[in-house]
Amino acid sequence: MRVRAAGLGGLLLSVLLVQALALPWPYNNVPSIDSLEGDMCNIYGEAALPFAANNFCNGTGFTTPGLLGYRCDVLALAEHTFQSFSKPNATCPAAKQTRAANVSLNGTAIPWPLSDQRPLPANLPASLLAAEGPSMYWHWKNLYNFELWAPCAATNASKTQTSGWVRMGNSSLEWLRPVGWRVLSTLWVKDGLAQAGVTWPFATVLLKGKQLVILIRGTETYADWLTDFTYNENKTGTLSLPGATHQGFTALANTLWSIGLRAALFTNVVEGSVTSVSVAGHSLGAGVSQLVAYAAQDYLRHRSRSANVKVDAYLFAPPNAGDATWAAGFNKLVNARRFPFIYDIIPQVPCTPTMAACKNTVVPNPNPNGTWPYTTVGGTLQLLPAGMPSQAAQWGMLSKMYPCQLERFVLATHICSYNCYFSQYVSDKNNTCLLWNTTTTSAGGVGTYCSQYPVTSGPQYPFTP
Ligand SMILES: *[C@@H]1O[C@H](CO)[C@@H](O)[C@H](O)[C@H]1NC(C)=O
Ligand SMILES: *[C@@H]1O[C@H](CO)[C@@H](O)[C@H](O)[C@H]1NC(C)=O
Ligand SMILES: *[C@@H]1O[C@H](CO)[C@@H](O)[C@H](O)[C@H]1NC(C)=O
Ligand SMILES: *[C@@H]1O[C@H](CO)[C@@H](O)[C@H](O)[C@H]1NC(C)=O
Ligand SMILES: *[C@@H]1O[C@H](CO)[C@@H](O)[C@H](O)[C@H]1NC(C)=O
Ligand SMILES: *[C@@H]1O[C@H](CO)[C@@H](O)[C@H](O)[C@H]1NC(C)=O
Ligand SMILES: *[C@@H]1O[C@H](CO)[C@@H](O)[C@H](O)[C@H]1NC(C)=O
Ligand SMILES: *[C@@H]1O[C@H](CO)[C@@H](O)[C@H](O)[C@H]1NC(C)=O
Ligand SMILES: *[C@@H]1O[C@H](CO)[C@@H](O)[C@H](O)[C@H]1NC(C)=O
Ligand SMILES: *[C@@H]1O[C@H](CO)[C@@H](O)[C@H](O)[C@H]1NC(C)=O
Repeated sequence: MRVRAAGLGGLLLSVLLVQALALPWPYNNVPSIDSLEGDMCNIYGEAALPFAANNFCNGTGFTTPGLLGYRCDVLALAEHTFQSFSKPNATCPAAKQTRAANVSLNGTAIPWPLSDQRPLPANLPASLLAAEGPSMYWHWKNLYNFELWAPCAATNASKTQTSGWVRMGNSSLEWLRPVGWRVLSTLWVKDGLAQAGVTWPFATVLLKGKQLVILIRGTETYADWLTDFTYNENKTGTLSLPGATHQGFTALANTLWSIGLRAALFTNVVEGSVTSVSVAGHSLGAGVSQLVAYAAQDYLRHRSRSANVKVDAYLFAPPNAGDATWAAGFNKLVNARRFPFIYDIIPQVPCTPTMAACKNTVVPNPNPNGTWPYTTVGGTLQLLPAGMPSQAAQWGMLSKMYPCQLERFVLATHICSYNCYFSQYVSDKNNTCLLWNTTTTSAGGVGTYCSQYPVTSGPQYPFTP
């Protein structure tokens, strides 16, 4: 099997790849992703990694300073490897978009504002999933369409690109935005290092009546990977955030704030008629969304005309964004829903209570032999296989990670799981719920297949435990 540039899931994939390889550091040559998975299959065959997918941090030892020697080799190779993830001429997936439903099953218009659950407990009652599911779906689906479109819209804005890394844009393919909503602005950020001058859409601001929505996408570019790995907690930027926060996410939140978010809030909420604000992000975007939602709520509450406006945050597959002081401040101020699919690895990193920091990694990390503290924010609504509308048994089999199937694992757990789960609250059968072939197995199910599923040669994946 060949591993391709699976932009959205690649961070974790690379960590797993190198963990399984256990190669010595330093590496003179960066192995290609294809050869990495080939080597890994040679070493491990079809065996599962020796820990459960929902125990990633303890399983890899990334929480344990005492094991730094070996773990740092793993992390260093992971950081080195992700450089090969942005490939030239990768497929532009915008044609895969399908319009988000705009009504719930009983015909109620969506989205509607979330119930106020502040101060957030660690876990919210699962009954909220059904009660607020249609609004959760709407934010997810529009965000997912935005992610499918973004690689197609990348542009050589300043015409200074020197490498061939950028994915081919196709500006004739538009973002399938929700009907009736106005796109107030789309915020572009540079993929600034290897691809100087190439900018990608990173967030968008939508307006309809009194509702304002901010959507922030997940990892797709080389610069996004560097952001993900800049997980030291040194303060940066002018946003006033409690505690210590992830430097990479904080830098991006500051950028978005200054290039458009603050202005959008001022014009439409403080000076305008908007009474409902929501921020939704996936993966990296959910890490950044935590900071943006806090900043937005803090900004609005200090202005008399917007003091009562609540900011709802929808965090799909969110990595951790800061320490315990940060999490406590967030829980008090932001009306968030935190959605981790149980076997998704991204919401488990950077590891809590501490994430090892290493020497010899690509991204400079102050405090190289120590750890950085991370705490998960509250408002968790964990998504479980049993709640999937189709092939629940197959979703449950993703509890084990198989080295030769890691890309498939990441695609299912980090992307398709959210698409599938929330589709049940509206009439949307384009749900990526299917993992096994419905005609040749007894798995059954209604909807569409997750990307790279079903497996067409060899046994079905995920495997029966
Ligand atoms: C991880 O290990 C720590 C320390 O041994 C333990 O306190 C914690 O409960 C473990 N977490 C899980 C999810 O097993
Ligand atoms: C990318 O596609 C263009 C147009 O098809 C082609 O000319 C170019 O050689 C390709 N680049 C790579 C690195 O494959
Ligand atoms: C839903 O979208 C359709 C267009 O696709 C539109 O005609 C309809 O008015 C919308 N309904 C609501 C409740 O927004
Ligand atoms: C429609 O369903 C939603 C939950 O999806 C519920 O909150 C609402 O009360 C329902 N409305 C009607 C008219 O049944
Ligand atoms: C950017 O410029 C390079 C070199 O001129 C070109 O090969 C590439 O296709 C351009 N990419 C986009 C997305 O326009
Ligand atoms: C862009 O997308 C359109 C619509 O799918 C397609 O017809 C066209 O060939 C694409 N252009 C390129 C350069 O890929
Ligand atoms: C970043 O944190 C490290 C470790 O705590 C500290 O030594 C260093 O001075 C900090 N750098 C900045 C710019 O704050
Ligand atoms: C970090 O640990 C390595 C051994 O793992 C040691 O050689 C090095 O001196 C340490 N660096 C610092 C700054 O403590
Ligand atoms: C799924 O999306 C396709 C467009 O890609 C559309 O033609 C089809 O009707 C959709 N299927 C369902 C069941 O909504
Ligand atoms: C399921 O298996 C059958 C028989 O091998 C095959 O014809 C069909 O294309 C498969 N379906 C998918 C979606 O791959």
